[in-house]
Amino acid sequence: MSVETTATAAASGANATERFRSDKSAAAEVSTERVNALASRVVKALVDTVMEEKVSYDEYNALKSWLIKVGEDGEWPLFLDVWIEHAVEEVANADREGSKGTIEGPYYVPGSPVLETPATLPMRDDEPGRPLLFQGRVTGVNGEPLAGASVEIWHADDLGFYSQFAPDVPEWNLRGTVIADSEGVYQVNTVQPAPYQIPTDGACGQLIASAGWHAWRPAHLHLKVSAPGYQLITTQLYFTADEHLSDDIASAVKPELVLEPKDKADGTGREVSYDFVLASAA
Ligand code: DHB
Ligand code: FE
Repeated sequence: MSVETTATAAASGANATERFRSDKSAAAEVSTERVNALASRVVKALVDTVMEEKVSYDEYNALKSWLIKVGEDGEWPLFLDVWIEHAVEEVANADREGSKGTIEGPYYVPGSPVLETPATLPMRDDEPGRPLLFQGRVTGVNGEPLAGASVEIWHADDLGFYSQFAPDVPEWNLRGTVIADSEGVYQVNTVQPAPYQIPTDGACGQLIASAGWHAWRPAHLHLKVSAPGYQLITTQLYFTADEHLSDDIASAVKPELVLEPKDKADGTGREVSYDFVLASAA
């Protein structure tokens, strides 16, 4: 099979790299003082590791060829979002009131179709997976309803594939921007996402296999929730009893973010409620 017909690391990595370049890299400005402080510390951490672990030339060269391969596979966004972003998110949102956030990950695409509540995410006629009704309310920290709040959702399909990062999935599949009603209430019909394995055939997969780790993230919904005058929350929601809640490769699970869906009374799948609380903009 060709790169076009399989979900290879190189294909999803190249897409994630391209996506990052077009959305985010231009905005990044860091002062000389901070670059000096941060780069010095990172280099020192590596040098300390070499000295303390007595790293050999074979190990040093293995690292060099691995770092080269991360770039060739386009996996820097994946590597950073899996192993580092959770700490950046923790620092960024340490003092924020309201609902918990967590990492964005590499597969967000801005500009998904705007849908009025009650909404159904774009999906294929024969979209596999158990139907899920996801609903709730968006308020401020004082309980004020946020009329017309935006609930942007994206998630993997029943096979663990994200649209625009895996071949043969329609462009906006399982991605949408749902507009809450005048009471801040939103309702979204979608399907239960599957647990997700980060690509195993590229450099990140090679690291995982070589270190004897696993590549799994628990099944999750990604969200960005916002309203004018309030701070946008980037978060994820997980599902109770998922075997990878306690050992997420991306360290992005928080106990407040675990949903417990129930069977719908009419037998058409499952439903769950989650209320978002947004902090006022600074
Ligand atoms: C990765 C994928 C995700 O879906 C996510 O939420 C975080 C990280 C990744 O492959 O790096
Ligand atoms: Fe994800």
